[in-house]
Amino acid sequence: MGPFANDLLKDKVVLITGGATGLGRAMGEKFLELGAKLAIAGRREEVLKQASHEMDSTGSAIFYKSCDVRDPVQIHEFVDAVCQRFGRIDILVNNAAGNFISPTERLSPRAVDAVLNIVLHGTFYTTLEVGKRWIEQGQSGTMLNIVTTYASSGSGFVVPSAAAKAGVMALTRSLAVEWARYGIRQIAIAPGPFPTEGAWSRLSPTPEIQDKMINRIPLKRVGDKEELANLAAFLVSDYAGYMNGEVVTIDGGEWLQGAGQFNDLIDVTEQQWDELAALTRKGK
Ligand code: HXC
Ligand code: NAP
Repeated sequence: MGPFANDLLKDKVVLITGGATGLGRAMGEKFLELGAKLAIAGRREEVLKQASHEMDSTGSAIFYKSCDVRDPVQIHEFVDAVCQRFGRIDILVNNAAGNFISPTERLSPRAVDAVLNIVLHGTFYTTLEVGKRWIEQGQSGTMLNIVTTYASSGSGFVVPSAAAKAGVMALTRSLAVEWARYGIRQIAIAPGPFPTEGAWSRLSPTPEIQDKMINRIPLKRVGDKEELANLAAFLVSDYAGYMNGEVVTIDGGEWLQGAGQFNDLIDVTEQQWDELAALTRKGK
């Protein structure tokens, strides 16, 4: 039993890029459960086919087609096909991404492009394709962009991703103002760590890296995909209709832990606090 009425997204048509795996799939499953119709895109046809079958074995509420978001022609054809199948699109979720950890000085220009082309260009192309149609047809709609917490702070060792996600965040906030007059709403979610095969295999490949990550999170756990899917469902629903241009963080407090200058004092024991108090009170 979830927090929403079963018809929260009844008959809404949602396009999710990267919708066959990880967080994209979790959002898609939630949207279907709440009455939406779903179109999922990704590069790998087999993965899309299997996910679609598992998500809705009747196939009546789901459409899939291989589509590489780096290619505007493929996006155009994909969106055409979705409109042919479901008549329109109401919600676009820009979720597809590419990322890996590496010292920046080890990156080739092709490695930089590999990430920027998916995350920044892909998101921009999809946004343009869908946005132009909505504007032309006088249709309102909602765009949800999945960024990261380090889109705001930056982060070493994932620099192409940080730069690209910062660009997507700027896109979100810019269009929130420019396209509001067309009834188009922009929202972003900035997730902290959520274990997915795609992210973990590229970013947290060893137990040591995983332990270190969990230790940095005040709630001392990673996110549950269901938690992100519930947030996304609310944000794309009409109940969030007055939210526009907001970037919603869901990270167990992780980025604030790194940001607060004195947060490391969490490790100080009661006895040490007594000793410290004796010292600091002297300063009165
Ligand atoms: C250094 C690398 C590399 C690595 C690829 N390259 N992986 N360099 N370290 N680990 C270099 C290659 O050597 C090559 O450069 C260039 O990048 C392109 O590589 P390809 O394999 O041809 O790229 P491509 O097939 O386009 O694949 C794109 C990809 C791949 C991004 C590299 O990982 C991918 O398809 N990812 C999609 C899914 C994904 O990344 N999911 C995670 C999202 S999680 P040269 O010069 O040698 O030719 C996320 C946020 C997580 O975004 C936040 C966690 C808290
Ligand atoms: P994931 O499963 O690897 O998801 C990435 C998806 O993007 C895959 O389905 C992939 O499918 C698709 N994709 C990649 N390149 C594409 C392209 N050129 N065209 C079309 N589709 C493409 O990883 P995830 O963890 O669920 O990530 C989902 C989103 O959450 C991403 O935006 C990521 O940056 C963000 N995020 C995740 C975390 C986390 O901890 N998991 C944290 C912060 C942000 P194909 O390979 O078949 O194309």
